[in-house]
Amino acid sequence: MTRHFLRDDDLTQAEQTAILDLAAQIKSDRWGRKPLAGPETVAVIFDKSSTRTRVSFAVGIADLGGVPLIISTANSQLGGKESPSDTARVLERQVAAIVWRTYAQSGLVEMAANTTVPVINALSDEFHPCQLLADLLTIREQKGKLAGLTVTFLGDGADNMAHSYLLAGATAGMHVRVACPADYLPDERVVADADAIAVTTGGSVTIYTDPADAVAGADVVVTDTWVSMGKEQEKAARVALLGAYKVDAELMSLAKPDAIFLHCLPADRGYEVSSEVIDGPQSVIWDAAENRLHAQKALMVWLLEHA
Ligand code: CP
Repeated sequence: MTRHFLRDDDLTQAEQTAILDLAAQIKSDRWGRKPLAGPETVAVIFDKSSTRTRVSFAVGIADLGGVPLIISTANSQLGGKESPSDTARVLERQVAAIVWRTYAQSGLVEMAANTTVPVINALSDEFHPCQLLADLLTIREQKGKLAGLTVTFLGDGADNMAHSYLLAGATAGMHVRVACPADYLPDERVVADADAIAVTTGGSVTIYTDPADAVAGADVVVTDTWVSMGKEQEKAARVALLGAYKVDAELMSLAKPDAIFLHCLPADRGYEVSSEVIDGPQSVIWDAAENRLHAQKALMVWLLEHA
């Protein structure tokens, strides 16, 4: 049966570990795997803007011997003009996999249900699972392990990165803390799913409103923009409510002395994170940005082998 990667919990802990192991191997031997030789084509569709995702998938598909077909929804029939299911049926006759950055998760679910080729979520309003594979690879490189570590996400708890940290962190056996205002709590269904996973992996999930409590003793501190794509009109209200969750040197000092800082980028310096932290010695953001390439290549190899 075709495997898709729509949410972080589409992978078991063993599968997540296998993909991270493969990513590390691919990183050390960049051109050693060519599953797309032919070349086969991978469709990479964008409803929203992107730098890292666009570049890392395009480069990664080429590294694997394939051809990336970058499609902007603005110039295609998808996006109101043709359904995800009909689009999927057209694409599967010609491409080896479909990568899609979109708004509602339901579109990805519809596409995956109507195609025989793997569908990869390149960011939706609900989840950003490819970013989490890169973040987990980076954390593992820095800390030598994932299980047992404490990771704190600060900011909008209903943000796709917060949701993905809950699911992927719990899958990895991490202790996931999300610190957010009461108006920006994570989706309770995602918290329940993460809780259920954590019971099986030895991890845990805790939601905080106090940022200092959430960061105390953390191994990894993470934030994301307060104004995700599509929320631009809410910026003033969000800045007012989320100001207390800004990651600055004072907040960072409450984490472990060897804690690392991650941000999926792009960052709004001075808002969710101070320049002192994002440009400081604990920040590993550029490693994570590079690891998008290696992690997604491993994901594509794994999905193609399981198709
Ligand atoms: N982190 C991330 O997804 O970056 P882009 O929006 O530039 O793709």
